[in-house]
Amino acid sequence: MGQQHEGMEEHADGGGSSGPRPFERLARLVGAFAHEIKNPLSTIALNLRLMEEELQEPANAREKRFLTRTRRVRGEVDRLHGILEGFLSYVRAPLPKIESVSLNQLVRNVTDLVAPELEKEGIALRLLLTEGLADLEADPRLVHQVLLNLVRNAEQALLDVDHARELIVGTSIDAGDGPSVHVLSVTDNGPGMSEETIARCYEPYWSSKPGGSGLGLAITKRFVEDHGGEIRIESQPSVGTRFLVRLPSRSPLPHAVPDAGPDARPDERPDAIDETEA
Ligand SMILES: Nc1ncnc2c1ncn2[C@@H]1O[C@H](COP(=O)(O)OP(=O)(O)OP(=O)(O)O)[C@@H](O)[C@H]1O
Ligand SMILES: [Mg+2]
Repeated sequence: MGQQHEGMEEHADGGGSSGPRPFERLARLVGAFAHEIKNPLSTIALNLRLMEEELQEPANAREKRFLTRTRRVRGEVDRLHGILEGFLSYVRAPLPKIESVSLNQLVRNVTDLVAPELEKEGIALRLLLTEGLADLEADPRLVHQVLLNLVRNAEQALLDVDHARELIVGTSIDAGDGPSVHVLSVTDNGPGMSEETIARCYEPYWSSKPGGSGLGLAITKRFVEDHGGEIRIESQPSVGTRFLVRLPSRSPLPHAVPDAGPDARPDERPDAIDETEA
């Protein structure tokens, strides 16, 4: 495909060598801020729900209007809650817990999930999985999320075209000169991406879709880079788009310890805020 773009040039974490990195400090602050907003928002939502219950059967036009407005406010409160949840999942992305993963099996799990809706949307799904692929060292939950985000984007892009829609998910190994790399590819023959879209698509909250949060690719890139991997785009307007995810086959990170004791590596970033409600 046309242009090739790597997602490696900016380092969101600032790259400092000692102490908490600038991005982590800021993430901690804004994470705490978002968390503080969530608590009163939950109280507002709960009270709106109670008001709705009391007005279930409006006795007159005034009560009916009141119920309509209460529902509208609750819809917006729920939307705000969703925005905060999305934001928190970005700034508090868990550190990878490394295990041996069958990448082909993971692809099958994800594509089985979305296959029924792809079929309804007239999208032909093809798997190009390399036989006998060695296991990958990665966090299966995070790679699952990466693939799901890319497949969902391809699916949504394909809804914009009238010709025969095709989505291909592939796996391979790049043994190259250096250390071996597992490659995951998601290709669609959708509308492709403009130069501006390619330049901005990893920015948090940048979206071209009416209901899109714009966090999908930001989170995807973060998960991939947290594995020491990289993400690339090959895209051409009116032809289609391919996302390539390259993950080191042998992770530089320590393996997850089954039955982890008190000294186990934390699941979250060292300075993540405890989500437990007081
Ligand atoms: N396969 C694709 N084909 C064309 N454009 C794409 C593709 N994947 C991503 N994009 C563009 O990149 C933008 C950012 O994608 P991203 O997944 O971050 O957010 P989103 O899909 O808009 O919203 P959400 O946060 O709900 O995923 C999209 O809005 C779209 O414009
Ligand atoms: Mg998306």
